[in-house]
Amino acid sequence: MTTQSPAWQKLAEHQQATSQLHMRDLFAADANRFNAMHETLHGLLFDYSKNRITEETLTLLCNLADSAKVKQRMQAMRRGDKINTSENRASLHIALRLPENADPIMVDGENIVPKVHTELNRALSFAGSIIDGSHTGITGKRITDLVHIGIGGSDLGPQMGAQALYFYRTGVRVHFVSNSDDADIAQTLTTLDPETTVFSIASKSFGTPETLLNGQAARDWYLQHGLPEEGISHHFCAISSNVGAAIKFGIPPERVFGMFDWVGGRYSIWSTIGFPMMVAVGPENFREFLRGAHAMDEHFFNTEFRHNIPVLMALLNVWYNNFYHSDGHTTVPYSHNMRRFTAWLNQLDMESCGKQRTLDGKPVDCITGGIIFGEEGPNCQHAYFQLLHQGTRLIPADFIVPMTTPYGIGRQNRFTVANAFAQSEALMKGKTLEEARAELSALPEAEREKLAPQKEFPGNRPSNSFLFDKLDPFNLGMLMAAYEHRTFVQGVIWNINPFDQWGVEYGKVLAKAIEPELESGTSAHDSSTNSLVAFYRQCQK
Ligand code: F6P
Repeated sequence: MTTQSPAWQKLAEHQQATSQLHMRDLFAADANRFNAMHETLHGLLFDYSKNRITEETLTLLCNLADSAKVKQRMQAMRRGDKINTSENRASLHIALRLPENADPIMVDGENIVPKVHTELNRALSFAGSIIDGSHTGITGKRITDLVHIGIGGSDLGPQMGAQALYFYRTGVRVHFVSNSDDADIAQTLTTLDPETTVFSIASKSFGTPETLLNGQAARDWYLQHGLPEEGISHHFCAISSNVGAAIKFGIPPERVFGMFDWVGGRYSIWSTIGFPMMVAVGPENFREFLRGAHAMDEHFFNTEFRHNIPVLMALLNVWYNNFYHSDGHTTVPYSHNMRRFTAWLNQLDMESCGKQRTLDGKPVDCITGGIIFGEEGPNCQHAYFQLLHQGTRLIPADFIVPMTTPYGIGRQNRFTVANAFAQSEALMKGKTLEEARAELSALPEAEREKLAPQKEFPGNRPSNSFLFDKLDPFNLGMLMAAYEHRTFVQGVIWNINPFDQWGVEYGKVLAKAIEPELESGTSAHDSSTNSLVAFYRQCQK
């Protein structure tokens, strides 16, 4: 069992022995702490010195990774072994960002690298033709808007990426529709002209009802505007590994961009699922995004654990999750354009690591998966940060901070960066009762003694900082790939499969049963569900 290994036990003992250490003292005792506890890669700075660790902790955590066979599992992933055991599939998102001349990766006897580039080039070329105007609508008008329809992994990554790289935007506006609540598509379409709009319908399975319903609504909207059926090929494309279903839906084969069953939805932004990003930022910027991710892959596969950014990120998460029993993990980009980053990460990490069975089907014997939440930096400082600073829970934080913005408005960038740094410092240092008293020295003693405890901060609250010069395609690619590999390594340590999602599938099955009941009114569930169905029917009258 995971928790019975000597490496795990040693960490548990070590946690007991060191849990009273305060980071404030660790910094005071070692002027070199930052030097020893940061990594750099192509301009990305990863500072993990503000964690409740010593060099011995890192050694023991790396030993845990060795004993969990992280290296062997990394190699299995890279070789294309079917490491997604419950679905009998490889998990090869890394292959999507390999250069064209990379060594072959064989899946079921076939080298997948050329196939990846064929589909990528098809999608990039269509994106390019929309951007440069060589592809027009059926009435000959230039395309001004793309509406991307998808959900989960077919939405969150490209939506976040397109927004993050707003500064690199082309002339085509890109919109995203995911929710089956028809407000989403209705409100999006009101601003658009069908003659100048292209829809991309993205679904790996091409069986996800939210996406198919929205796709159908888009098709109806297009036809209701009097545009001809034969214009569908000008205005609709699809992205799927189920090419047949996309064609059956009415998308012409030349407008269906393939993806592969060995890419999990939440790892798929690098595939043709990235199409809206390709349109939003242009083919060359999308290639640069892939290059950034590939650079992180190279680092991940070739760096010893002690200096391996994704491995360290994962080990620190395991440290807090399993040895400190932390209550969640907040991820905070100090970047307005990265405001959807945590939504993307929610799916990546929580859909991957929310598992209770080991790879061989036994119950896990440790807490898996973290509760990930977050918002754009300055805003969440004024919302939930109070709980991080003075609440009773332990919630480690990741601060993601670009050092520059392209706008140069007043002193806003300096102010924003200063706040990010100040938060990590305050969380680490805290404020002692003595310091609080000293700050209040002007007050009469009774008042001071009453107020000082309210102004005491425990500190010793961990955080990582990720800094990079600017939010460009390469840096975004590196960062996202680091989080992907973090997720994988966590999965290996917990001995779970981070590539399936049977829990989500179950909800989909139940919804299929309830939908017709909302129409017929006959439902045979528990009294709560039956009453909810009845209430719905009442409201329809
Ligand atoms: O949310 C569950 C899920 O299965 C995700 O894993 C996936 O990203 C999403 O649905 C969408 O699936 P598809 O791309 O097949 O429509």
